[in-house]
Amino acid sequence: MEKIISLAKRRGFIFPSSEIYGGLANSYDYGPLGVELKNNIKNLWWERFVHRRDDIVGLDSTLIMNPKVWEASGHLKEFSDPLVECKKCHTRFREDENDTLKCPNCGGEDFSEAKQFNLMFKSFMGPAEESANIVYFRPETAQGMFVDFKNVLDSTRVSLPFGIAQIGRAFRNEITPGNFIFRLREFEMMEIEYFVQEKEWERWFEEWRKEMLAWIKDLGIDLQKVHEHEISESDRAHYSKRTIDFEYDFPFGQKELYGLAYRTDFDLKNHEKFSGENLKYRDPETNEEFWPHVIEPTWGVDRTVLAVLAEAYDDSDPERIVLRLKPELAPYKVAVFPLLANKPELVDLARQIYNESRSRYMTAWDDRGNIGKRYYAQDEIGTPYCVTVDFQSLEDQTVTVRDRDSMNQERVKIEELADYLKGKL
Ligand code: GAP
Repeated sequence: MEKIISLAKRRGFIFPSSEIYGGLANSYDYGPLGVELKNNIKNLWWERFVHRRDDIVGLDSTLIMNPKVWEASGHLKEFSDPLVECKKCHTRFREDENDTLKCPNCGGEDFSEAKQFNLMFKSFMGPAEESANIVYFRPETAQGMFVDFKNVLDSTRVSLPFGIAQIGRAFRNEITPGNFIFRLREFEMMEIEYFVQEKEWERWFEEWRKEMLAWIKDLGIDLQKVHEHEISESDRAHYSKRTIDFEYDFPFGQKELYGLAYRTDFDLKNHEKFSGENLKYRDPETNEEFWPHVIEPTWGVDRTVLAVLAEAYDDSDPERIVLRLKPELAPYKVAVFPLLANKPELVDLARQIYNESRSRYMTAWDDRGNIGKRYYAQDEIGTPYCVTVDFQSLEDQTVTVRDRDSMNQERVKIEELADYLKGKL
């Protein structure tokens, strides 16, 4: 983990939040390369589950919602962790995640009774800080899909089974220390609420289980390091009748990467009860009205970034560190170098190639130091291909294309370069 954290900081993937002020617990910023990697993940997800499917539509709902949402969803009452307080130093921590049974701050062994601690962040809306104005930062995006269920039904032509997808921020006042970006207070999730007939829930649960595994595989993650964990009834969220966690062998141990839950009709039913709005679905053939049941696959964006980085990090070659990212995830797909920075004819030709490449892919430019160092710098951030313009290029209009993984170099005609890269990226 230390090597990944160090590379992430050094190369501009991930920085501690507000670091100049000493940081903020469990909070991180994505730097110039991190935001590219994260956006690539989100775009691939949206493309795969929204654009390429007829049965899923997108949504972007607000972070702060009417507080009644959280009453109806059960989060005000149930979304909590059991905390104990050390009687000596008054530190609060989760007893169930502390194997030593000692206070993590002072080593004390005398604790208060466990009390439920709600994980939602509170704020006030409007000018007065009074209880009538309390609002909450959403701890999951899912409630947006439930409260907009009727709007989506009325404004689109969806019919069962169908899903509503959303990518967005969620906030949790996590107490357990975080393991870098594994457990954050502010994070992003990609969620689908997939509405089905009750009698079909098992079939769709299984479909989504397979879809989630296929997604993980397509990220380049070794499925041998992914374990399905059936959550017992006592550990399931209050709304779930069945949950599987997909756990990944992170460098610090096997932990939850994603989750898949059967939320029954819990949410729609409760929102109907609390709002008074009819949130039932009318079957177009039978005219029967009912609350659809929900299968919810959910993906943490930041945990995806962490798993992808852990999987891609390779320092087995003493000469170089390589991020073996799939090309679709890599921040830069191509890097272009003039062999020498002080030869205008090389720089001019390299600039032309760079500008052409930039119109297709995220492309890096580097003219500092020697070629070996430039390759090393691109390997470390996962750039799949480096294109070098040298003196031969001026004579025969070819360039060297170097492959990150094999380190093989090929001479390619400049006029064929776009097609050559297209076949590989
Ligand atoms: N709507 C369902 C739901 O919120 P969850 O298992 O609590 O389920 C979904 O969260 C996903 O969000 C997790 O599988 C994980 O990937 C990610 N996640 C949860 N808490 C997180 C945190 N504190 N920091 C980063 N990611 C988190």
